[in-house]
Amino acid sequence: MGYIGEMSKKNDPVNVILAGLKREEYRGYDSAGISFFNGKPCVETLKVAGKIAALERLIFEKKPETSHSAIIGHTRWATHGIPNEINAHPHTDCGHEIAVVHNGIIENYKQLRNMLGHDGHKFVSSTDTEVIPHLIERARRTGSRTFEESVMEALKELIGSFAVLVLCSDEPDKIIAARRGSPLLLGLGEKEFFVASDPMAICEYTDRAIYLNDGEMTMVTEDGYEILNYHDGSSGKSEVVKFDISLANGHAKKGEYEHFMLKEISEAPEVIFNACKGRIDFETFSVTFGELDEFEEKLKRVKKIMFAACGTSYYASLSGKYIFEKLPDISGAEAFYASEFRYHHPKIDADTLLISISQSGETADTLEALREAKKYDALTLGIVNVSGSAIAREVDIPVYCHAGPEIAVASTKAFISQVVVLAAVALRLSELKGGESEERKTVIRELGNLPEKVALVLAAKNIIRHVAEISQKYGNFLYLGRRYNWPTALEGALKLKEISYIHAEGYPSGEMKHGPLALVDNSFPTFAIAVKDEVVYDKVLSNLQELKARGGPIIAVATEGDSAILELADHVIFIPETLPELSPILAVIPCQLFAYFVAVLKKRDIDQPRNLAKSVTVE
Ligand code: AGP
Repeated sequence: MGYIGEMSKKNDPVNVILAGLKREEYRGYDSAGISFFNGKPCVETLKVAGKIAALERLIFEKKPETSHSAIIGHTRWATHGIPNEINAHPHTDCGHEIAVVHNGIIENYKQLRNMLGHDGHKFVSSTDTEVIPHLIERARRTGSRTFEESVMEALKELIGSFAVLVLCSDEPDKIIAARRGSPLLLGLGEKEFFVASDPMAICEYTDRAIYLNDGEMTMVTEDGYEILNYHDGSSGKSEVVKFDISLANGHAKKGEYEHFMLKEISEAPEVIFNACKGRIDFETFSVTFGELDEFEEKLKRVKKIMFAACGTSYYASLSGKYIFEKLPDISGAEAFYASEFRYHHPKIDADTLLISISQSGETADTLEALREAKKYDALTLGIVNVSGSAIAREVDIPVYCHAGPEIAVASTKAFISQVVVLAAVALRLSELKGGESEERKTVIRELGNLPEKVALVLAAKNIIRHVAEISQKYGNFLYLGRRYNWPTALEGALKLKEISYIHAEGYPSGEMKHGPLALVDNSFPTFAIAVKDEVVYDKVLSNLQELKARGGPIIAVATEGDSAILELADHVIFIPETLPELSPILAVIPCQLFAYFVAVLKKRDIDQPRNLAKSVTVE
């Protein structure tokens, strides 16, 4: 994030940056830093390993005085080099006259570093970013170029993705910002400007911004800004957009809850309600989707549906795939890890509908999959939670989850809202392509019952905590589910891994006997999703028998009234009966709560687990 404004203004530049970085912490939180001028010829840089709170403490101690209001700051998620103070951004040139913060990855940094090293440049960090200030320094020295010309020259040498902000002692009242691949926007205030990765950072100060395009750079002073294409110097397009104040995700409060994760799990009933609101009419059994209206004709022609997403959002898409397949008149859908999507692209054409699913709407892999599909003229629909995010802006049809801010790194309520929205989109598509259908009515009716049923699952919190207390001693877990709840098993294992740091593997129950069973003994438990499903329930029970025969402890999530499971499992968490295809929405909650309680017992950093970020903005 960068800030520049009239010095007498109400906003203290350092506080503006700290507040903005706190809201950007979801993108990474392993180290942080700021650069500014304090009357000396060199730029002053303060950096720490750790979260923004550590930077805040350092700033409180040092009480930095700024002589110019231009200031840049960064919170990092390490790609190149361990998360320590040296590798934290900003990075500077040899003479500390240029400072740079960077998101993205410079793919040719090794070659550039060797070349610059030959020319006598000294590097102190292990990052890819550090080549940027040195390239600018070289351009500035060799051709006596201006600040602007030097940055343009340097950017042309970079291969990879970047959003960069640069300060230079030649013009201490100016910030230069540029992007390729990674998002960047310029926020417009009154005699003050902001540059940031997303609107969240600046929503407290302004609701007007310009999203820079790839290949553009902006030169910002407190008197105004100019936007250029850094390849040819031509003028950039500068459309000012107003963003929604509901973007103020940073304002979410924990309230009575100890952690955001528990708060967000507990919000499930209203999350389902909000995902359906204004879309599903439970009296007429119809689905209205304002967002889809304009594309109805194209949607009717769709022959192939592909999902691309990452992590939890990918598991939501696997769950959604089953719902799409179950409803009449939809030919089926394929789900892809977004990072693998481009390796399947030859089959995409104008009759393809690509559905990108992302809570943050900023995930680089998902964004790249979307861009890949657009190259082949696919119709693109994004199921996103954060409005105004990169994916929401780039798809043809943005569809919002309306789940409210999700702050905990472990995604919980987003999964639930994504599966519900996927069901609603599937219902609308099926309606568009066919006529009346009893099957659709059944799904709609049950969606209306879900908030109440989810509340009942949440009420079993103490039982789940008790199971977690007994099970937290284990070092490994197998998560099993079949058919609709295979994705639930994958998601359950992911939750346990990411917040408790316990190894867990998700498998389709039927696959267990093809290898993983070798792991099982009395120290290797299984968490099984064994809910009622006329097609697979008996087979799941047989799989659990196989585990029991090998002494494996079993925790099962089962449907109320199921007595057979009590004979097999050591612990049973019951959930209300629902349609099998919607059962992941209920069954995922015991998985989320189990992971949460185990992680609390292990005293983990629940909302910001190690090594992770809420939104992964590099490929
Ligand atoms: C979920 O708990 C994870 N933190 C992660 O897998 C996440 O779902 C993934 O990175 C995708 O994020 P997105 O939904 O914001 O695109």
